[in-house]
Amino acid sequence: MDGLSLIKEREEAMTDYSYVPLELEGIRAVLPLMCDLYIEEGGRYILYRSTSLPFTALDCERLMAAGVTCLWIRGAGGMSTQHPATALLSLPDEQVPPMVKAKVLYDSAMETVRQAASNTALQAVIPRVADLVGLTLRYLTHSSNAFGALLTVMRHDYSVYTHAVNVGFYAVGVGKAIGITDNRELAVLGMGAFLHDVGKSNVPNNVLSKPGALSVDEWATIRKHPSWGRATLSGAVDISPVVLDIVSQHHERLDGSGYPAGIKGDSMHLYAKLVAVVDSFDAMTSERPYRPAHSPYNALKILKGESTGKLDPKLFAALVRLLRNLSEPATS
Ligand SMILES: [Fe+2]
Repeated sequence: MDGLSLIKEREEAMTDYSYVPLELEGIRAVLPLMCDLYIEEGGRYILYRSTSLPFTALDCERLMAAGVTCLWIRGAGGMSTQHPATALLSLPDEQVPPMVKAKVLYDSAMETVRQAASNTALQAVIPRVADLVGLTLRYLTHSSNAFGALLTVMRHDYSVYTHAVNVGFYAVGVGKAIGITDNRELAVLGMGAFLHDVGKSNVPNNVLSKPGALSVDEWATIRKHPSWGRATLSGAVDISPVVLDIVSQHHERLDGSGYPAGIKGDSMHLYAKLVAVVDSFDAMTSERPYRPAHSPYNALKILKGESTGKLDPKLFAALVRLLRNLSEPATS
């Protein structure tokens, strides 16, 4: 092959959108993997491991020790590569197991929410959160048992980031469970849920992560985070007013016992009521400095008792339905 042909072939290989990267760091937790995996060498994609041989944690360690950072999966041609995860999440389950897609999505979400919480260039972060919601919807559409896989990779350490990510995913899941089918509506709900605690970036760390009981003043500071979040986001261009309502009302309660305004249920936006339910659930199923995480069953039982008159029973039932459907075998 002459030099020019070789260059042309390499260029074509490098712009071959049918291959999408799979970061080794990101998939370590979901190995072994049974799908065709390629390695990229000088612009060419060479089959490294076929579907018939599992790619194990040991293989992964070896590759990483050799300096390899990602393997590649072959996809359909012409897919968007704006965000590497976009293409990957669209691939059929036979090619990329739902668990791997879930892990890639979860890691992308963690990164996006970290950027949002750093709060330095919020205007630049908003489109990324919108992308994240888009990725979530794409994932839920293109994978079987998508929510179940997502639950498996969820972390429950209750950092500000993991909590925001979990609440975002639960909110979209419950939104679909109550029959919201319009992706634009789900996008608004998801955006508000992923950003619901963005105001916590104004709360000092020593208050946020204090292991013991909060003082009256510290508690008063915490109670300001919904208003701070609204004020921060209000400055962003093109933000939906519903997102602002979700952020400012997620600690309000139907009987007016919530904060910061103490408004009652009929003044709360439906999506804020929904986020109030999943926010409470994720807080209970996450580890806290003063107690271990509750199991989903225990959390639902306690919440059912404590939330009467405070959380919307229909939305609570939708969360139960979402979780119950995951633990029941599919019927044909
Ligand atoms: Fe909150």
